[in-house]
Formats: sequence, C-alpha cells, structure tokens
Amino acid sequence: MEDIERLTQIGIDIARDAGQFLLKKFHSHFTVSHKGAVNLVTDADLAAEDMIVSRIKSAFPGHSILAEEVHNISRDENSGSSCKWIIDPLDGTTNFAHGYPVFSVSIGFEVAGDLELGIVYDPARDELFTARRGGGAFCNEVPLRVSTAGSLLSSLLATGFPYDIQTSKENNLSNFCAFALRVQGIRRSGSAALDLSHVAAGRLDGFWELKLSPWDCAAGYLMVREAGGTVTDFRGAPASIGGREVVASNGLIHQEMLDVLKSADSKFEILD
Ligand code: IPD
Ligand code: CA
Ligand code: CA
Repeated sequence: MEDIERLTQIGIDIARDAGQFLLKKFHSHFTVSHKGAVNLVTDADLAAEDMIVSRIKSAFPGHSILAEEVHNISRDENSGSSCKWIIDPLDGTTNFAHGYPVFSVSIGFEVAGDLELGIVYDPARDELFTARRGGGAFCNEVPLRVSTAGSLLSSLLATGFPYDIQTSKENNLSNFCAFALRVQGIRRSGSAALDLSHVAAGRLDGFWELKLSPWDCAAGYLMVREAGGTVTDFRGAPASIGGREVVASNGLIHQEMLDVLKSADSKFEILD
C-alpha cells in the first residue's frame, strides 16, 4: 500500500480546500437543481467533486474512485484497483441550498474492502475530523472518545430520512416516533457524515439511519469505531458501507437502540 502518512496528508489538504471552496460559494452565489422531488444538487456539489477527484487522480493515478455525483462506478477507469476513495463532496446539500450552515466534505479510503482512513471536514466550524484504522480518531488533532451515557433516557440521538420518504414505507418515521418517546432528545442535522463524527466526539450518544450510500458513511463509520463506538445494522451485525441500515453508538446504549428498532411498527402511510 501507499505510504499512509502521505496519503492522509494529501486527503486532509484536499478536504480542507474543498470545504473552504464550499464555504465561499455558500456566502456568495450558487445554483440549485433537482435530482428528484426533494433531492437537490447545486453547482457547488459538482465543482467540489471535480476538484477532489482531479486532485486524487493526479496524486494517485492508479486508485479507484467512487463519488456521489458524476464520478460513479461506471466512470471509474481503475475499478479493479484494491485502493478506493469514497467521496461525498457536499454532505448536507439540502441545508446548503437553504442557507443553513451545516454541511461537510466526507472522504473515505479503503484497501481491499477495509476502511483505512476517514476524513470529514466541517468548514463552517473549521473542524477537521480524521480517523485511521488502528490509529484512533481526532478533531483538529485532539483525540476523540465516544460518550459515557448509559441509558436511552439520558441520551441525545440523531437520525436522518431518505429522499424517498414520501413514497416508501421504509421511511424511518415509525423508528423516529419510537425513539422520541424514550430519549432525552433527537436531532436531524442533515449531514450523516457530521452526525457520525459527532457520535465519535461524544456530542451525540447514538445515531441511526436507513438507506445511506457509501459516500455518506465511509469516513464516519471508521470515525465512530476508532473513537471506541459500535457500528452495526439493525440486527447487531457489523455495518458495512454497502448496507442499508446503521446504528452507531457509544456502545453502552447500543442494545437499547436495537431493541427500540425491533419493536417499532411501521404504521405510517405514504403519499399516493
Ligand atoms: C444526505 C445527508 C442526510 C441524510 C441523507 C443523505 P446529501 O446526503 O447525509 O443527513 O439523511 O440520507 O442522503 O444528499 O446531503 O449528500
Ligand atoms: Ca450525503
Ligand atoms: Ca452529497
């Protein structure tokens, strides 16, 4: 494998530059278009992705790249490489489009399917979250540790909702209601990469969501695990970035979270 120190430094430089670019756009001018009824994309997503991908390609020409907007699997000329970068150029597009300053750049790196490096940059707070497999997780170079909350009743959780919320019964609403009655509070930040980083930082005690894509969660899963947390699917098996469900927590409240998800019944109707 490449020298992981060099690779980490290049990944950090790229994430910071992309985040600063997004922040400038956020405070100046950007255009918004629709990918679906409630699924947006801006010219900032596309330009940030171009910037990130072209810099990774020039530093690591043989590596494979999976990014959200344009540089997906079908455009990946190195898809056979075991070294893969997984990129969300702007996690929190709906927030960004509305002028709500909660968004991030998320970059994960895996080798032969194992996550080795995670970088999440929050330009509005100038917070850089990093994690290396076996090397711990950090925010602006300060080591991260998950929280010590021992019960749901004393926990602050976060979640999110899929873009097909109006048309799919698997829209997370019943889970949301089941948790709302049992916890101290629930937040919906609009950036899964930040939610996971905040679990790693002990600011949130747990997070769950359905139907995330690999670019939403690759960096964040490693962040939580390296900060001492647990990341599984709804049945308690280790979560993979290709899976459809995630529960990430400080470990102490994990079983309680799984129990709530098991008991939540799907009684919410969807739009015709
Ligand atoms: C979304 C955010 C959001 C989550 C959605 C994601 P995007 O990513 O991470 O928090 O609830 O599931 O799709 O579209 O802003 O990159
Ligand atoms: Ca995303
Ligand atoms: Ca995105």
